[in-house]
Amino acid sequence: MTDTMRALVLDRTGGPDELRLADAPRPQRVLDEVLVRVIAAGVNPIDAKTRAGRGVSGALAAWPAVLGFDFAGIVEQAPYAAHPLRPGDRVYGMGRVPRVPGSYAEYLAVTSLSVAPMPESLGFVEAAAIPLAALTAWGAVFDTAKVRAGTRVLVHAGAGGVGHFAVQFAAHAGAEVTATGSARNTEFLRSLGASRVIDYTSERFEQVAGEQDAVIDLIGNVADDTGTRSLEVLHPDGVLVNVPTGSWPTMAEEAAARGLRATGYVVAPDARVLAEITRLIDDGAVRVHVDREFPLAEGAEAHRRLEAGHVRGKLVLRVAPDPS
Ligand SMILES: NC(=O)c1ccc[n+]([C@@H]2O[C@H](COP(=O)([O-])OP(=O)(O)OC[C@H]3O[C@@H](n4cnc5c(N)ncnc54)[C@H](OP(=O)(O)O)[C@@H]3O)[C@@H](O)[C@H]2O)c1
Repeated sequence: MTDTMRALVLDRTGGPDELRLADAPRPQRVLDEVLVRVIAAGVNPIDAKTRAGRGVSGALAAWPAVLGFDFAGIVEQAPYAAHPLRPGDRVYGMGRVPRVPGSYAEYLAVTSLSVAPMPESLGFVEAAAIPLAALTAWGAVFDTAKVRAGTRVLVHAGAGGVGHFAVQFAAHAGAEVTATGSARNTEFLRSLGASRVIDYTSERFEQVAGEQDAVIDLIGNVADDTGTRSLEVLHPDGVLVNVPTGSWPTMAEEAAARGLRATGYVVAPDARVLAEITRLIDDGAVRVHVDREFPLAEGAEAHRRLEAGHVRGKLVLRVAPDPS
């Protein structure tokens, strides 16, 4: 194997056109890390925020930098001979901040705690769309909001990357799910298990949603004071989970002033939870929706599309052809 690889690199933070295809040093695996040959890389809002100089750009240690948390690919090197992950295994996962793992590249080294066998029912592109968004949805819905059968839950941006998993997880648990989205996503959201869909472009959700035990807020106060307005529908014993942390600096004070509970949430890689998600996918209980696949070289176009704010499900970069 050579010491270099093809990667979508970033020389400095800025607009989407700062992303360029180039040769970059191939990462070296250390300690418990797995070296993965990447076939596909999921695109997440954190990638675009980081590229623009926000997000986790402060944690980019070396330049040119390689972005990307989500990956699906093949184990090239395992940590040690008897490790449960073996060379040739089809795996997926997400890397962990602060070492932005750089999945927009042919190889990636990542702690084995982040890596799980891929769902058998999926190809690499669909698998790469899952980890960060699904782990976020799981953490917000189950670990933080404690959603279970009968919980009334409102999911903002239910048609997006995190949202389409949050709606499905909550519905699968037997919750009563209301989701916000534009009218073009009504049928999509219903097919995921939302019993009610509110078109945020024509209705004020706080006037029609009714009381909710939990709000999974994937918008925050970035748009239309969605976070603040969500407090109006929250049951006194309910909880609001704000996922775009930092989008609503006065959240704690505003919630406390009304005697309500609101919390941020930050995702972390977790191969065990990912294995549970894998089971749900292979059982057909949960599905992933890929809005569009782009070749790695067209990463800038994928970022532009993501930043326009209306992706249904996920965008994925194809890094390499499927292995034969
Ligand atoms: N804290 C963490 O660990 C963490 C983890 C993951 C994500 N995040 C953050 O969470 C946010 C959501 O991430 P994502 O990947 O799900 O984003 P995304 O996929 O880009 O979300 C796109 C969706 O948002 C919907 N939307 C846009 N404006 C809306 C509004 N005003 N009300 C309701 N829906 C609206 C769109 O539906 P329409 O097309 O119908 O408008 C679209 O389907 C991002 O800010 C991301 O950075 C945080």
